[in-house]
Amino acid sequence: MEVSNSYVVIKAHIDGSPKESDFELKSESISLLLDSGSNDVIVKNLFVSIDPYQLNRMKSQSSSQMYCTLAAAINPGQAIDAYGVGKVLVSGNPEFQKDDLVVGFITWGEYSVMKPGGMLRKLDPMGFPLSHHLGILGLSGLTAYAGFFEVCKPKKGEKVFVSAASGSVGNLVGQYAKLFGCYVVGSTGSKEKVQLLKENLGFDDAFNYKEQTDLKATLKKYFPDGIDIYFDNVGAEMQEAAIANMNVFGRVAVCGVISEYTDRGRKAAPDMIDIIYRRIKIQGFLASDFLNVYSDFISTTCDYLQASKMHILEDISTGVEIIPSSLIGLFRGHNVGKKMVQLADCLIDAHI
Ligand SMILES: NC(=O)c1ccc[n+]([C@@H]2O[C@H](COP(=O)([O-])OP(=O)(O)OC[C@H]3O[C@@H](n4cnc5c(N)ncnc54)[C@H](OP(=O)(O)O)[C@@H]3O)[C@@H](O)[C@H]2O)c1
Repeated sequence: MEVSNSYVVIKAHIDGSPKESDFELKSESISLLLDSGSNDVIVKNLFVSIDPYQLNRMKSQSSSQMYCTLAAAINPGQAIDAYGVGKVLVSGNPEFQKDDLVVGFITWGEYSVMKPGGMLRKLDPMGFPLSHHLGILGLSGLTAYAGFFEVCKPKKGEKVFVSAASGSVGNLVGQYAKLFGCYVVGSTGSKEKVQLLKENLGFDDAFNYKEQTDLKATLKKYFPDGIDIYFDNVGAEMQEAAIANMNVFGRVAVCGVISEYTDRGRKAAPDMIDIIYRRIKIQGFLASDFLNVYSDFISTTCDYLQASKMHILEDISTGVEIIPSSLIGLFRGHNVGKKMVQLADCLIDAHI
């Protein structure tokens, strides 16, 4: 038996802001009969994650492509690997059986043919919806948890600023920080998102960065006693403004610099004398550096979820053809919370 697989590719490298015409949908036939001795696993993709770092992989050149295998360059015409959840249809690998739920690096398509050595593991949903395993219990959650607790090393009562605060990582950083006992202010890109942060997620305060003309003065207003921790998701002017408002021994976790991804010329240029005399620590990090805290992250977050102490923000679109506009939307602030695309109904379509 054969199935037709539609999957997304880029037509050429993308060095500026992504647009729909940069992408195309390709189609191929996949046989569901494995050759004898094959160790392949054929997965029906259920949900795939849409993440800003994918754009850096699509550039003709980016240092991100050199230092992390998960961020390796994507070439035009090539299937694009992405974090996701799927269901095993056929397996030649003794580790997986038909109908197993799996999580790992599948593809931006309807099916994935996983070769031995691919990053895939069985998924125990632990009673939570599958979508949670891409967001709060997935890489966004680990990024927020490890970035906040391991990189920022918070103390109760400290003042925390998080940018892109209504996004997938940012909203979780704010929620962990509040549950830990910090004072938290977030920046985001619309008045509806500001309201969401303050009214639903329990942020102490929030502002729309697009309405501000002087970010240093804005942060001074929200943090009259200074910032102890800045969780940076955006880079550029926001990073400069946050550093200008940091307290002595402040910590900056550089998680991402999304405002710089679409514009090679945009860079943060914080005042280095501030950094020296206020002894500010700035640390870039990758979630994959912190697999040592993975089990703490899962047990703490599951406890919070079971006690209804954390709010879930998921932004789910449907269908393989929507993947390009979903990625583009991240750079235009269209998403609220974890952006993902659902490719099949978990219970019905995944059965062949
Ligand atoms: N280090 C790691 O291991 C790691 C892991 C995951 C993610 N990241 C990074 O963390 C950051 C957040 O990722 P995410 O997956 O949670 O994405 P996300 O925040 O869910 O989506 C991106 C958000 O960024 C904001 N944004 C877009 N362009 C912007 C600009 N020019 N200036 C300011 N804000 C802008 C938009 O919200 P607004 O409405 O607020 O503008 C948008 O919704 C990204 O920089 C990403 O690369 C790093």
